[in-house]
Amino acid sequence: MPGRRPRERCDGGATAVAHPNIALIKYWGKRDERLFLPWTDSLSMTLDIFPTTTRVRLDAAAGQDTVTLDGVPAYGQTLRRVTAFLGLVRERAGLRQRAVVQSRNTVPTGAGLASSAGGFAALAVAAAAAYGLGLDARGLSRLARRGSGSASRSVFGGFALWHAGDAAGTDAEADLASYAEPVPTAGLDAALVVAVLDAGPKEVSSRAAMRRTVATSPLYRPWARSSGEDLAEMRAALLRGDLPAVGEIAERNALGMHATMLAARPAVRYLSPATLTVLDSVLQLRREGVAAYATMDAGPNVKVLCARADAQRVAGVVRAAAPGRAVHIAGPGPGARLTGGDR
Ligand code: ADP
Ligand code: DP6
Ligand code: CO
Repeated sequence: MPGRRPRERCDGGATAVAHPNIALIKYWGKRDERLFLPWTDSLSMTLDIFPTTTRVRLDAAAGQDTVTLDGVPAYGQTLRRVTAFLGLVRERAGLRQRAVVQSRNTVPTGAGLASSAGGFAALAVAAAAAYGLGLDARGLSRLARRGSGSASRSVFGGFALWHAGDAAGTDAEADLASYAEPVPTAGLDAALVVAVLDAGPKEVSSRAAMRRTVATSPLYRPWARSSGEDLAEMRAALLRGDLPAVGEIAERNALGMHATMLAARPAVRYLSPATLTVLDSVLQLRREGVAAYATMDAGPNVKVLCARADAQRVAGVVRAAAPGRAVHIAGPGPGARLTGGDR
């Protein structure tokens, strides 16, 4: 977790690493698209796999930002998202210099495995250092939120809660109130078994899908209400270190989120036949007495929450249900941080 840094620019540029996070209580729906303010609080586990590394260097001679993702020049939506984000950083820094951004994902991009969370958390930390914003961890979380809502949580390691913030008040007040912070847990030795069923990019981005859901799904408001109750129960379960309760709440919250999308007009469906096959294998594990619970994001890939001690067995069962697919075991990982050389 990055601490407060001196307010000076890193002229040689800055490099940061961040990991994706998987929500146990989902963020789905913005009440303010410009400020990235969500309708609901959300809660996640940052992973110790799939790091993104991002380097930001100021270029006084450049007339525009240059962005490279996985060695390929970014274009379209990605370039617009990153450039808009850098514009925000420049405005805060009172600087005009454009930047050269080079980022590498080890997670599949746009596949529902939270690349935007690790990606914008790394970009926020690197850009804040390169432009000398001098932000503390909470400030970095607020900043990362403006790139991708879920990125606000990847600034922190372990389990993190992103506050929707108070709906009332001015823009500045609302912005200040919406940030992530670590949540207390007790003796929870959790793992997430990640089944990569389809590494390809989704047809509808998370952003567009949640917008359509909020605008058209009759199930959205009921889910948002019940998600608040899920969160309260989840926090208590985390404090008790009660993995079966954590898993049960996470699974119902995720299935409820997918129900809101299925009821959108037109429907958004990320779950595939392979997803359902893995969900069946999770049910089978539970029948055999293993505490294993599934969650899915904006994509077909399944993450199975279980005790670390059960992770190998769970991964074996998931592999059998998803032949030929990569299955990873993740534990709670670190928060976003600056890395060597540029500090
Ligand atoms: P995901 O499920 O992977 O988070 P999203 O639809 O939320 O999918 O976001 C995917 C988009 O996030 C990418 O198309 C790209 O625009 C952006 N993104 C992903 N990784 C990075 C990165 N390392 N740096 C900047 N932007 C990124
Ligand atoms: C289903 O954070 O990717 O993964 O804020 O528009 O960039 P934007 O969306 P994003 O949405 C994540 C949705 C989710 C649930 C979650 O991570 O909480
Ligand atoms: Co995303």
